[in-house]
Amino acid sequence: MMKSAIVLAAGKGTRMKSIHNKVMHPVANKPMIGHIISALKKCDIENIMVIVGHGAESVKEYLQDEVQYALQSEQLGTGHALMQARAFEHFDGDTIILCGDGPLIQPETIQKAFEANQDHALTVLTAQLKDGENYGRIVRNKEGYVEKIVEAKDCNEEEKKIKEINTGIFCFKNKLLFEGLNEITNKNAQQEYYLTDLVEIFRKKQYSVNAMVVEDPQETMGVNDRVDLAKAQQWMKRFINHKHMMQGVSIIDPENTYIDADVEIGKDTIIYPNVHIQGKTKIGEHVLILPNSFLCNAHIEDGVTIDSSKIVDSYVGAHTVVGPMSHLRNHAHVEENVRIGNFVEFKNANFGKGSKCAHLTYIGDSDIGERVNVGCGVVTVNYDGKKKHRTIVGNDAFIGSNCNLVAPVTIGENALLAAGSTITDNVDNGDMGIARARQVNKEGYGTKWKKK
Ligand code: UD1
Ligand code: MG
Repeated sequence: MMKSAIVLAAGKGTRMKSIHNKVMHPVANKPMIGHIISALKKCDIENIMVIVGHGAESVKEYLQDEVQYALQSEQLGTGHALMQARAFEHFDGDTIILCGDGPLIQPETIQKAFEANQDHALTVLTAQLKDGENYGRIVRNKEGYVEKIVEAKDCNEEEKKIKEINTGIFCFKNKLLFEGLNEITNKNAQQEYYLTDLVEIFRKKQYSVNAMVVEDPQETMGVNDRVDLAKAQQWMKRFINHKHMMQGVSIIDPENTYIDADVEIGKDTIIYPNVHIQGKTKIGEHVLILPNSFLCNAHIEDGVTIDSSKIVDSYVGAHTVVGPMSHLRNHAHVEENVRIGNFVEFKNANFGKGSKCAHLTYIGDSDIGERVNVGCGVVTVNYDGKKKHRTIVGNDAFIGSNCNLVAPVTIGENALLAAGSTITDNVDNGDMGIARARQVNKEGYGTKWKKK
């Protein structure tokens, strides 16, 4: 059976009180619409269409050619949004309809919806809440069949008490969907074309209407304001952390650990509280991430220790130790068995196997070889006020403490730089560079000065 999906994302999202389109608001650092498309992509769906309108450009720029688009230039309701999807009209098979403001939906539920609709014209996904809030109410007849959906604003007193609600997710026999759309009107409290009216229309035509109650009502919550957004964040955080824990990652305090949806983490990794792991970060096995670390698009190999450090767009090789308080950024590439210690910054720099840089150092635009020792307080002087230049250091070199390496400069293998030198000229393999004034000792001057 051919599977298609239509996601409604044209609405303004007035209740968000934002200049941004509602579906572009992030949950776990990823726009809501992104979560929905990721879930759909895991379900072997042939055709995915997103209905755009308000802020269409931002949605298209984000999703690019991952999906097809239809424009709803005036937002006259969810039914009207669907009418813009006529390009799908001729498709056979089933089509799932999702709202762009329901970011927590999981692929398993989408699959179940298709399965549930096999022998029906329409399956509406419903949820049981303690209070129906502003959701559309599911009205069932005496036999228990779904009769219609009534929007909260159109409910009478009896209907308001109904606790079974419309999640906004429907699975339709595609051809019947487009046939039914011709019959929707806007005669209701909001003067909108409601997609939800299709239930009653189908019932009148005696098409088979099914309902599937979702297990966790939070998974299908709609985000309409900032309070909902915070609730969705909480749910997503718990969901992601639970998934990693089930796969063998120890999270000491899951309530205070923030991991984005697309992060990968190997087993026996331990994550301490107040750690943020974002973007497409990939972490190996047996990694130790101590409190207050921040990783974004980082690639961390097995056995690494990260202590209160920030690593962005950078690579860290196996068994390397980073921190406390270090910052790797802009394509820092640090090989295995390295030690990067307290208050060290690496930017766009390569650091070879077994090298050490333990304290108070800036390494920028550099290629540092293997087994190099970088002393405390070393600075690569990479910027002359106009351009950036590279510093190159060969294997087994020893950079004494408090050296400045004024780039462009090359230090050979096994070279030695004397502490406190400002190095402006290249140093050949095996040579020593020393660039500082010679010391003068003045006999007895210390005592004389104290007596003054
Ligand atoms: C909708 C449902 C409601 C359900 C709830 C679940 C209708 C009429 N109501 O209400 O029964 O309980 O979702 O969360 O369907 N949109 C458009 N074009 C429009 C209007 C909306 O594309 O003209 C999109 C919005 O961008 C949004 C989605 O449709 O992603 C839902 O719209 P929203 O205004 O949030 O509807 P709800 O009031 O939440
Ligand atoms: Mg909504």
